Amino acid sequence: MPDSRSTAFARLRHLADRPGGRAITPLFAADPGRAARYTAALDDLTLDFSKTAIDAPALDALFALAEAANLEDFRRRLFAGAMVNPTEHRAAMHMALRAPADAGLHAELAGVVEDASAQAAAERHRMRDFVAAVHAGTKTGATGARFTHVLTIGIGGSDLGPLVATEALTLGRTDNPMEARFLSNIDGHAFIHATKGLDPARTLVLIASKTFTTLETMSNAQAARGWIAGALGEAAVPRHFAALSTNLPAVGQFGVVPEHTFGFRDWVGGRYSLWSPVGLSIALAAGWDRFQAMLDGAWSMDQHFRDAPLRQNLPVLLALVGIWHTNAMGCATHCVLAYDERLRRLPAHLQQVEMESNGKHVTLAGTQTEWDTCPVLFGEPGTNAQHSFIQLVHQGTRIVPVDFILAANPDHNRPEAHRALAANAFAQAEALMVGKSEAAIRAEMAAKNIPPADIDAIAPHRVATGERPSNTILFDRLDAFSLGRLIALYEHKVAVQGCLWGIDSFDQWGVELGKVLANGILPELTPGAETGKHDSSTASLIARFRALRGET
Ligand code: F6P
Repeated sequence: MPDSRSTAFARLRHLADRPGGRAITPLFAADPGRAARYTAALDDLTLDFSKTAIDAPALDALFALAEAANLEDFRRRLFAGAMVNPTEHRAAMHMALRAPADAGLHAELAGVVEDASAQAAAERHRMRDFVAAVHAGTKTGATGARFTHVLTIGIGGSDLGPLVATEALTLGRTDNPMEARFLSNIDGHAFIHATKGLDPARTLVLIASKTFTTLETMSNAQAARGWIAGALGEAAVPRHFAALSTNLPAVGQFGVVPEHTFGFRDWVGGRYSLWSPVGLSIALAAGWDRFQAMLDGAWSMDQHFRDAPLRQNLPVLLALVGIWHTNAMGCATHCVLAYDERLRRLPAHLQQVEMESNGKHVTLAGTQTEWDTCPVLFGEPGTNAQHSFIQLVHQGTRIVPVDFILAANPDHNRPEAHRALAANAFAQAEALMVGKSEAAIRAEMAAKNIPPADIDAIAPHRVATGERPSNTILFDRLDAFSLGRLIALYEHKVAVQGCLWGIDSFDQWGVELGKVLANGILPELTPGAETGKHDSSTASLIARFRALRGET
């Protein structure tokens, strides 16, 4: 007998398979109030999901799934610091990083329950003092020169969140206290690029690594250490390095002094760590006030997610729309188009947040899921995407749901440029939904006196089927507060989806095997080394690589 969750997924598929069950435009024709009915808001932030095929029965079925998955209980357990990440025996309490000190959020770690919001606030105060000293020039490099640049070394969650937030809060501004660079890839070219033109005497290096064992980060940290020591002497190292980690002994062994070491707890997942000391680069580059405002924005979304009824809850609704597209419509991809240059790397961060969290096929019970989980997420800034892959979104054989993200007010003084940007966002969403019929195209071509034979040949290629879904996320202005709110919206969306899919959204075991194998192959790439046991493709690639390097 199928359980209630399987029944709920089956009902969703049934609804999408009804005749016309995937069509959007008839829903608008039938309901003049549809846009308002399928738009939810938190202050100035609105989520319009009316341009989807979700109707009242579909929405009811989605909430039935939420009930079958005990979503409300999951939400309560998440905020209570329960072990929602059972495969790593951890809570997921990143909300404590942005909550006020007295929020009373608790989390258990190694059998001890701690006041997570108080612990996070204490470390945040240390960070604030550090940032103030760097900006004031009372904390300087070894030569006494003020720090003008911050180079952050980290990868994955220790890179993408801080990178995206720093870009969003500094791009195009002239009042940034410091300039930020980010170094993630172990590729030596990345190191050259990241340090190009930097003055070691004026550069503060942050090593961001939750575990402080990640190969890429440790390799780059050693290279940076050599770069600083080579220019300023070994004694300069303690003044030029800070570390952001849960692994304080390893930080000490590297040579980072305790005053420059900022810790966090294992209840912070890597991809949720930009709010922790890992976000120090954001505060250094954009200023403390902006960092704090970003935390405040995220906390406002936390409270909304925690307290709002499910039917008015933005993360819940965003998650359910995604479930509809993945599990009812069978969509395998999801496109995020932020019409804001400052959010140009947002899709990269969301890729990790969504795909590392929910790219799983085993349920919490240890069984294979009977349903699909996370779609492949991709994106580019609008309008650039319109001149590259959007063709497929309009006319490809597969349906690609889109999130359009837009602020109503820019921070530049060219209102006409922003209107043009917005017009493009709205037009893309409208075009995806309404499309253009062959009859309309033929009439248009005939009116231009195009010969009938040419019309016959070309018109089918110009047809846009329409009925292609999108969400539009619109808010007043992209500032630190709204940025925090936006990222937290997606974080909680992911948690909700993980709950509905019945998986552990907070582990990432799939990334481990490749790391282990890389460690095994590394010694085999040194001249004269024996090649280990591999499949014939891997073995011959290793041999060819060595031959091309003249290192057989
Ligand atoms: O390889 C994936 C990963 O484990 C991510 O989950 C994490 O964000 C990243 O590596 C970096 O890990 P760390 O912060 O421990 O260096």
